[in-house]
Amino acid sequence: MSKQEEKKLFIQTLGCQMNDTDSQHIIAELKEHKNYSTTDNMEEADLIIINTCSVREKPVSKLFSEIGQFNVKKKENAKIGVCGCTASHLGKDIMKRAPYVDFVLGARNISKIKDVVDKKGAVEIDIDYDDSTYQFAQSGHNLYKTSVNISIGCDKKCTFCIVPATRGDEISIPTEMIVEQVKKDVAKGAKEVTLLGQNVNSYGKRFSDKREKTSFTKLLQEVSKIEGLERIRFTSPHPLHMDDEFIEEFAKNPKISKCIHMPLQSGSTSILKAMKRGYSKEGFIKRAKKIREMVPDVRITTDIIVAFPGETEEDFQDTIDVIKEVKFDQIFNFKYSPRPNTEALELKDLEIPDDIGSKRLIDVIELHKEHQSELMDLNIGKTVTVLFDSLKPNGEVSGFTDNYCQVFVKGSDELLGKLVDVKITDATRTALKGDVVN
Ligand code: SAH
Ligand code: F3S
Repeated sequence: MSKQEEKKLFIQTLGCQMNDTDSQHIIAELKEHKNYSTTDNMEEADLIIINTCSVREKPVSKLFSEIGQFNVKKKENAKIGVCGCTASHLGKDIMKRAPYVDFVLGARNISKIKDVVDKKGAVEIDIDYDDSTYQFAQSGHNLYKTSVNISIGCDKKCTFCIVPATRGDEISIPTEMIVEQVKKDVAKGAKEVTLLGQNVNSYGKRFSDKREKTSFTKLLQEVSKIEGLERIRFTSPHPLHMDDEFIEEFAKNPKISKCIHMPLQSGSTSILKAMKRGYSKEGFIKRAKKIREMVPDVRITTDIIVAFPGETEEDFQDTIDVIKEVKFDQIFNFKYSPRPNTEALELKDLEIPDDIGSKRLIDVIELHKEHQSELMDLNIGKTVTVLFDSLKPNGEVSGFTDNYCQVFVKGSDELLGKLVDVKITDATRTALKGDVVN
């Protein structure tokens, strides 16, 4: 078979880390099977893909204006594909609103990219489709870091969340496939892996074939046996399912990065109930404190939604209380956004006026800034171990500490892929600066 002519792919990725990984898979599959290489210049691309997010409304409404722009500026005959969660949720309606879109591929159907790419009008959005046993082509995003999906979909029914409707029921990927994928990436130079799932703690409950159940803790133990792998990260755990066995493994396994995402969403027990999160204000604080006690240098990050329907000033103060008690190292904050196919839509009458939501968001941001400065300054003078992974255009090299704080030093590419001791000399709210200790 003669080699196909090389073509250019421009891909834009919105949303979460799983979308990033899906985009890497799309790039790898199209490279291997269709001879595409990527470009940053949309106007020279033969194929334009937008990998969408539908968790909040804003990115969805932006999608149509954006693809409209792409359509005007694109090269003649260039194709446009819409992938990801908005593709799952709007399906062929995307083509009704934007007839120039060539194909639509849902978040759960990414493995079919090579089949739809040349099929004008293709729409693949089946959420019952199981691509959990699918082997993707090798992706090569950052040589030293890789990410591997450990499960697809989500079985929780958080009342604000559209993900179960776009990514379908949860199915775990067999442990041996995950281990094999990580080994392949390590053989290519990866030192760090991020294991990805919507609720990683429920890993191992259901597979697409008949096999014994397992647990996330067991998976962590298996992955950490891989020689040459220095660091394991994962996202996201669910605070409800972080059992003692898991917390102990997190604390004692030296390969596990000591940074953990604990999505709080709200600090009010009654709002948590309305969100169907399954834990209380006190339960969350207790778990976070236990982790801080067991892992002294741990960094804890979180997601917070303000202005969920019915959130009173008192409820909001509960969220502020938890932020003050736990002092999160990083907060991703969101104003509640009503989404189709979610239970919270029924609470329409209780929706909070936008200006109140905005004010609450600002309160969270301001409080968090204070904590960030305080926590980051504690690093000054310490010596930390950094895994360097990228060279910056200004001659600096950057990497992350074991508890996943970004560090910049003056240095060369010789540092890349290595664990190096660094003395911290300076801190901003989001990163550290230091000197390599010789
Ligand atoms: N379990 C997932 C959550 C995916 S959604 C995970 O792996 O992190 C990411 C975050 O978006 C959620 O934690 C939540 O804080 C926020 N979010 C989800 N739905 C939302 C909505 N309707 N409005 C505002 N924020 C939302
Ligand atoms: Fe969404 Fe809750 Fe699952 S936030 S992805 S339904 S754990």
